[in-house]
Amino acid sequence: MVPAQRALSAFLTENMHFWDQAFDTPGYKYGTEPNAFLRAQAHRLPPACAVLVPGDGEGRNGVWLARQGHTVFSVDGSAVGLGKARALAAQQGVLLRTAQVDLADWAPPPASADAVVLTYVHLPPALRAGAHRRLAGALRPGGWLILEAFHPLQLRHTSGGPQDAALLYTLDLLRADFAGLREVLAFEGEVQLDEGPGHQGTAHVVRWVAQAPADEGGNA
Ligand SMILES: C[S@@+](CC[C@H](N)C(=O)[O-])C[C@H]1O[C@@H](n2cnc3c(N)ncnc32)[C@H](O)[C@@H]1O
Repeated sequence: MVPAQRALSAFLTENMHFWDQAFDTPGYKYGTEPNAFLRAQAHRLPPACAVLVPGDGEGRNGVWLARQGHTVFSVDGSAVGLGKARALAAQQGVLLRTAQVDLADWAPPPASADAVVLTYVHLPPALRAGAHRRLAGALRPGGWLILEAFHPLQLRHTSGGPQDAALLYTLDLLRADFAGLREVLAFEGEVQLDEGPGHQGTAHVVRWVAQAPADEGGNA
């Protein structure tokens, strides 16, 4: 393994240890209600559709989407987070399919999802574009990507997120990573977060909705 690969491998191991520890506490770090932007944008999804939720953590988004009647597949690197996601699903009486994966190399089945939902999944530059390309490949024609993440200007705030500019996202970065998708909604700016103890107060975020192209027959 060359030094850069070794460093990335060490980062990924440490990262999952970090998230297992972060979630190994009573309560839910980002609450049990869905992300507000997801809640506001979910009307775009067809009824009872297939939704992939990478980096779903303790499952607040996946469980809420399942409660809306969707078939949800939540994946995350943290076994502790996924355990809590399954417990939340059971408590709320919905089915949630889960798998422990590393987004560094995991490839979802192509064209298997009507929507991909990413909230606050901050990946390092060495693997981010590849992971985003594979996740976009999971979308069926006309499928939706709904994404919220912290912007580099979040470094001014204490409301959550990585303290490393290399892990923060701009609209231009997302447009480049997801170049095959059609932008539908784009926002960069300050919002008020109220998401459990983990995300509280004024935050600088990027919010993005994009759609996979229709197939050759024009079917979305
Ligand atoms: C800030 S939390 C957000 C959790 C959830 N999306 C939410 O908004 O409540 C980031 C999540 O991404 C997951 N994650 C980070 N890097 C990952 C990787 N390489 N593979 C899989 N999951 C990863 C973490 O385990 C954690 O659950």
